[in-house]
Parts: sequence; C-alpha cells; structure tokens
Amino acid sequence: MRIAVMKETAPGENRVAASPETVKKFIALGAQVTVQPGAGDAASIADADYAAAGAEVAKDALKGADIVLAVQGPEAAALKAANKGAWIVAGLDPFGQRDRIAAYAKAGFEALAMEFMPRITRAQSMDILSSQSNLSGYKAVIEAANAYGRAFPMMMTAAGTVSAAKAFIMGVGVAGLQAIATARRLGAQVSATDVRSATKEQILSLGAKPIFVESVAGIEGEGAGGYATEMSAEYQAAQAELVSAHIAKQDIVITTALIPGRAAPRLVTDAQIATMKPGSVVFDLAVAQGGNVEGSKPDQTVVKHGVKIIGYSNTPAHLAADASALFSRNLYNFLSAFWDKDAGRPVLDEEIGNAVRLTQGGKVVNERLLG
Ligand code: NAI
Repeated sequence: MRIAVMKETAPGENRVAASPETVKKFIALGAQVTVQPGAGDAASIADADYAAAGAEVAKDALKGADIVLAVQGPEAAALKAANKGAWIVAGLDPFGQRDRIAAYAKAGFEALAMEFMPRITRAQSMDILSSQSNLSGYKAVIEAANAYGRAFPMMMTAAGTVSAAKAFIMGVGVAGLQAIATARRLGAQVSATDVRSATKEQILSLGAKPIFVESVAGIEGEGAGGYATEMSAEYQAAQAELVSAHIAKQDIVITTALIPGRAAPRLVTDAQIATMKPGSVVFDLAVAQGGNVEGSKPDQTVVKHGVKIIGYSNTPAHLAADASALFSRNLYNFLSAFWDKDAGRPVLDEEIGNAVRLTQGGKVVNERLLG
C-alpha cells in the first residue's frame, strides 16, 4: 500500500496534506509513503523532515500510488502515474469542479471528497471544514485588527482613555465561534448573529451579545447536519432591518455565513457600509463563495465610504503550518479509522463511504452530484 503526497499547484495554496507526524503514523500502519519534492515548503516543512519521518521524497512519488493525498483536487492528468482505482483523498470542491470529477471517473480513480464528510460525532476528527474554518475565524479577526487604525481593547492611560472596539460577527458556525473568542481575547466588545437559534446559547457562553431577529422564526435547533438553509423573504427583510440599525455602530464586522452548495447569502449591503464610521473594517470570510458583503473582492482590500472591506480566496492558506497540521490529521484520522489490518488498506463503511465517495468503477456515483 503506497500513499503519495502531492505538492499543491493551485496559486496561493500553501498547505500540504500530510505532515511528518502523519507520515510516521501511516508507516506504523504498514503503508509506504512517498512525497513530491517541495510539497511542504510553503507550510514550513522541509523535504528532510519527511525523509526523517520515513517517507521517500521523489519526483515520481505518484508511481504505483494506491492513495493520493492532496489539499485541493489535482488535475486528473497529473495523476497518470497512480494505480488504476487509486483513491484521491482531498478537498475536491465537488460542485465547482464537475469536469475534473468526471475526468477522475473516466481515469478509473475513486475520488473521496473530504468536504462531504458527514457531520456526525464519530467523524468530527476527520472534518476538514471544521479544522480549517476554526483557523479562518481566528485569522479574519487578526487581519481585521491589523487593518484597523485603532486598538481593540479599552486602555486607560495617562494621556486619556482609548475605547474598546465594537466587533460584530455574522454567522456563528465553526469560524464565527472562533472569531467571537478571538475578538473577545483581544478586548473587543463583541456581538453576533445567526439564523440558527441554537447559536444564541453559544454566543452567550463566549461572553458576547446575541443579536437575533425575534419577529420571524429562524431555524430552530440544528437543521440537516447542522447547516443553515436559505431563509424566507420575510426573514431576510427583518434581518436586514435589524442589522442596519446595529451595523452603523460597529467598528469591525466579520461575516462567515455559508449555505452548502449555494452562493453565500448577502448579509451586508453597500448602503449599510455607508452608515459605518470611516476607518471601520469588514472581513468577508465568504468572499470565495460569492461573498456576504457587497463589493468584497477576493484577495483585495476594497475601500468603500472610508470602510476597508477585506477577504481572502483561501484564508487557511495564510496559516499554512497550522492548517496543514490539522488537515493532515483529519486525513489520517479518516484513513486510519477504516484501516483493515488483513487487507493492509482502508475499507470504508457505508455511511461515511457513500457520503464522501464521488466516483467509482468509472462512474460518478455520489447522490449529491447526481441529484
Ligand atoms: P457553515 O460554514 O455552513 O455556515 C456558517 C454559519 O453561517 C452557520 O452557523 C450558519 O447557520 C450561518 N448562516 C447561514 N446563513 C446565514 C444568514 N443568512 N445570516 C446569518 N447567519 C447565517 O457552518 P459550519 O461552521 O460548518 O457549522 C454549522 C454547524 O455544524 C455548527 O453548529 C457546528 O457545530 C456543526 N458541526 C458539526 C460537526 C460534526 O458533528 N461532525 C462538524 C462541524 C460542524
């Protein structure tokens, strides 16, 4: 059983899908691990570190690979040297890369999309969306604080008092919770909103103030897999009114709202930004999925009405060392949980296998892509 680790080729992708720690663990399971040269460079992992962990670092790392690990889905043509039927284990962007997925099927690969990991307790340690979103929530606050021309905490000095920044977090999933915690740690006065009423308790428990639409019902409890769905027009109108009144008083706004398989919901309009104080900062974590904020552009700082609007196309890649360490562990936790000692390879069960498997036997087989 050969596991190959790809060097990422997408622009700005600094992460890598295996760490020396996970290489060692795969070898302990009985696998051989090969790594493309320079795979870990951008994540501060040298080829020598992989070699010291027991991997073979080689240009033809993919030759005879049974499993290929990557952060983003490689082009099918780049995988020619891998075995027929090899597993491609990565964040494959299934809805955005349908042609590539079809090419995997045609080439006879079994593509396993890690972002389709079901949200069940036993799969928590395998969930790349959670591990990466958590870091993104942190980074968004740090970047916003950096771009903000004032301090976050209240400071009482001999020269006078500096007042605390007011930060508003929109969307309280994994990224939003970490954004609240980070902004609180930096000393900001934090408020937050979501459409799922279950998040109210979580916001309070982190010492922040919940801002919720009360006149129209939101999503009670957790929706399917804990995800949000698109809200009614009535809810959206009530939310816009509430947010408008609140946002005008904020210095920092971090938006994190996503709806799986759809464009990100628009939460902040240009008219609302116009009501904010000049010098305020808005960080749009959903910019790569269409954006929560009107006017946000991937990897650019757009200044509108004196307000800086920031958003990265790939936020976790800006924390490549930690993001890679966690991503690598997610992949290891996934493959090792299903390791069959007799077969000397992982054998997936139905629940998780059917959820993540996109292609098999030359065909696209995943229900979410066929439906
Ligand atoms: P996400 O990244 O899909 O969305 C981020 C947040 O935006 C969500 O809280 C969502 O409700 C919110 N949102 C969507 N539309 C909105 C709107 N119009 N206005 C305001 N907010 C809006 O969500 P994420 O971070 O993936 O987490 C969702 C839930 O899944 C959480 O409760 C989390 O704890 C749970 N989860 C469970 C896992 C497991 O059991 N294995 C793993 C990861 C998350």
